[in-house]
Amino acid sequence: MFAAVPVIVKAQSPGRADDLQCEHLQNPLGIDNLQPRFSWVLLDDTRGARQTSYQVIVYKENGETIWDSGPIASGDHLVTYAGKALEPFTKYTWKVLLTDKDNHPYQPSATASFETGMLQKQNWKGSWISDGTDIHLKPAPYFRKSFMLGKAIKSARVYIAAAGLYELSINGKKIGDHQLDPMYTRFDRRNLYVTYDVTNELQSGNNAIGLLLGNGWYNHQSTAVWDFHKAPWRNRPAFCLDLRITYADGSIETITSDKSWKTALSPVIFNSIYTGEHYDARLEIPGWNRADFVDTTWKPVIIRSAPSGHIVAQTLYPIRAVEKIPAKAVKKFSDTNYVFDLGRNIAGISELTVSGKAGTIIRLIHAEKIHPSGHTDLSNIDVHYRPTDDSDPFQTDIFILKGAGTETFKPRFNYKGFQYVEVVSSAPVQLDKNSLTGYFMHSAVPEIGQLQTSDLLINKIWQATNNSYLSNLFGYPTDCPQREKNGWTGDAIIALQTGLYNFNGITVYEKWLADHRDEQQPNGVLPSIIPTGGWGYEWGNGPDWTSTIAVIPWTLYEFYGDLKPLKDNYENIRSYVSHINDLYPGGLTTWGLGDWVPVKSKSPVELTSSLYYYADATILAKAAKLLGKTEDENNYSALAEKIKNAINKKYLNTTTGIYGSGLQTELSTPVYWGVVPENIKARVVANLAEKVRKDGMQLDVGILGAKAVLNVLSENGYADLAYQLASRKTYPSWGWWMENGATTLYENWKVDAKNDASLNHIMFGDIGAWLYKALGGIFPDADLPGFKHILLKPNFVTGLSRFKASYYGPQGLIRSSWRQTGRSVHFEVVIPANSTATFYIPREWKLKEASKMPGAPNKDGSYELSSGTYSIQLQKL
Ligand code: BGC
Repeated sequence: MFAAVPVIVKAQSPGRADDLQCEHLQNPLGIDNLQPRFSWVLLDDTRGARQTSYQVIVYKENGETIWDSGPIASGDHLVTYAGKALEPFTKYTWKVLLTDKDNHPYQPSATASFETGMLQKQNWKGSWISDGTDIHLKPAPYFRKSFMLGKAIKSARVYIAAAGLYELSINGKKIGDHQLDPMYTRFDRRNLYVTYDVTNELQSGNNAIGLLLGNGWYNHQSTAVWDFHKAPWRNRPAFCLDLRITYADGSIETITSDKSWKTALSPVIFNSIYTGEHYDARLEIPGWNRADFVDTTWKPVIIRSAPSGHIVAQTLYPIRAVEKIPAKAVKKFSDTNYVFDLGRNIAGISELTVSGKAGTIIRLIHAEKIHPSGHTDLSNIDVHYRPTDDSDPFQTDIFILKGAGTETFKPRFNYKGFQYVEVVSSAPVQLDKNSLTGYFMHSAVPEIGQLQTSDLLINKIWQATNNSYLSNLFGYPTDCPQREKNGWTGDAIIALQTGLYNFNGITVYEKWLADHRDEQQPNGVLPSIIPTGGWGYEWGNGPDWTSTIAVIPWTLYEFYGDLKPLKDNYENIRSYVSHINDLYPGGLTTWGLGDWVPVKSKSPVELTSSLYYYADATILAKAAKLLGKTEDENNYSALAEKIKNAINKKYLNTTTGIYGSGLQTELSTPVYWGVVPENIKARVVANLAEKVRKDGMQLDVGILGAKAVLNVLSENGYADLAYQLASRKTYPSWGWWMENGATTLYENWKVDAKNDASLNHIMFGDIGAWLYKALGGIFPDADLPGFKHILLKPNFVTGLSRFKASYYGPQGLIRSSWRQTGRSVHFEVVIPANSTATFYIPREWKLKEASKMPGAPNKDGSYELSSGTYSIQLQKL
């Protein structure tokens, strides 16, 4: 079946395994998973290229092999470590050997690495320390420790866990480029630690570690409707740190957080993740984080209990200031009042460079909108904020100058959603366009999707969708970066596929699923915002929102071919589904918010919520099958069937093919979630198309319908109609926002909405995935997940002459592009090595030269394609 792959045999195929990843990251540092996952892509663009076997070999630094999988006859690109027990604090290297379709060895891959972290909490040496003040104290604390190093250093790592946020420095230099680290978790259940290689930051002789701690979500001093200020975990920020030094002579020394550290208050006189940061430069302590600083006036620290018993590695792409955005314009109202415009709406922070008199108080008000007067307008985003006094203004940083020439301020422990920054100064300052810069911040997930069409509006919508997706990714998916910053579950289900086609986001979702597990009550209930300080178990948490627990692991399985998320969350999905079944034994549930922010018509909550419940039961049955749990598979398949029948019995008129009263959401969501009997489906979709036309060729949906309607139309023979809706320029549509200058997606179809009026929501954002699917035709196949097999179903829609999409999936680059002239189309597609595709010719089209296709068509007229590049000419019938 397969040839053995002795390393010494000279490779005969030019390709090789590339892009080696461990735990879906490149060369990660400080992982805790004892059975890490390894994945790769096969680089070989010859037609039909595929691997017939793989062999993974893992080495210790001394060259010892700790796992050799041996040649395994398999096309798998993702395998789980099964070698000797991994040791903590250890760097391992690994490589992959593959054989090609003729069983000849490919070149060996380059060597990749991963390094373990603590692995077990007993390996921590440091104590949790804080400055011992209480939750109400406003200024952020500094911590420092100096120490002598004598011997030559081979390597050094810092392991830092914090409740709150940290900024770490060694010998005066900030370590790493992470922002808002560690990421938000339910602090009393799970805390994340981060690993840094600091070998080059240490020096022989005297050294110093400096640390500034921010509140983040841990000590929420601002007051707003979700009661984060009452969170059960709330406390003064604390941290635990081990600096582990390996000397050239092999000995190890660990500098830890302990009683010997000193603390003092910093110039960060207030910081709130929700509202802003206040900084008094007059309170700066020059050299505070350097070794020669005299800290005799600093206070001792106190030892605290750990915030939770569960301290685990942060194994995901960090939040970074990814893009620097210079101000596009500034309007000067007076020498104490300026309004800067970045030209686009972002999530992130601004940096001001200014000089002025000592004690000058500068307010930086961040807003998405401006009044006709030109001043900032926060009225669309400050509605849930409940300030107790005027010391904590919303979306506002306060910078107090020390008066020593040019000074720069950029907050450390906060972010905002904004396009405009209004500067209000207590004394004259001279500012110009270059005085202010914006930084777009988000989880720095790699971009893996690209899309371009001949329709500039569609290109803009795609870009705006990605802007909103990223603006709402901060270690967990959020609803909006300004008003709430909450991990609203329903918004995340909608944005999921858009995220996965465009960004390599699995690590963020796996982390967020762990947040779900932390929040789930013993009876299976999940809150509507995750993480939460307690709010959200009583409102908004029906299956239309919190089905994240099932839909995310399943979609990750489809997109990455990785079963781990389904395994990790299986019991959680099960207890969630069982709970709904206990509450609603008849199969229908009224639990949910329904089709949120609709254009005008509101569909019955019972219909949409029951559809999500059906999706959960179906996913559970499929997961049970994959995991070999036959009894569960049978039980949950039967449950899914019961739910489906109950939905159809109550809502489907089998004669007319109409669900409910025939609204767009009522007709599209049952098709989308797969409950419509096959023999009635075409009629239901025809009714939907008819309804769209009757509604004036426009949308009449909220967020649940918006996820379904385009997909259902384009996947069932009405792609032109779907495209017309997608590219529409008038209200209500995505294009309407763009026509009004949007660079992000909005919360409300109305651009001048009075409520639900954020200008950076992702909950109408499934259109970003729809473009890849409906126009590019790039669909995963759950039977061969991870794009091992691609369902290729493009639509050459009327009115669009050029389309190009590329998606760098788990098997490598998939590209789909087409050019339409008259009644002809030239379609080009690239299928990566190790993948195959089934190409479905769109309705109303035929091949110009069927003879050029590889092989004969399938019974349904589709063609099987192996990997490689294809150039196909088609003609309209
Ligand atoms: C959020 C939404 C969320 C909704 C739930 C809003 O305040 O911003 O995006 O899904 O509440 O109803």
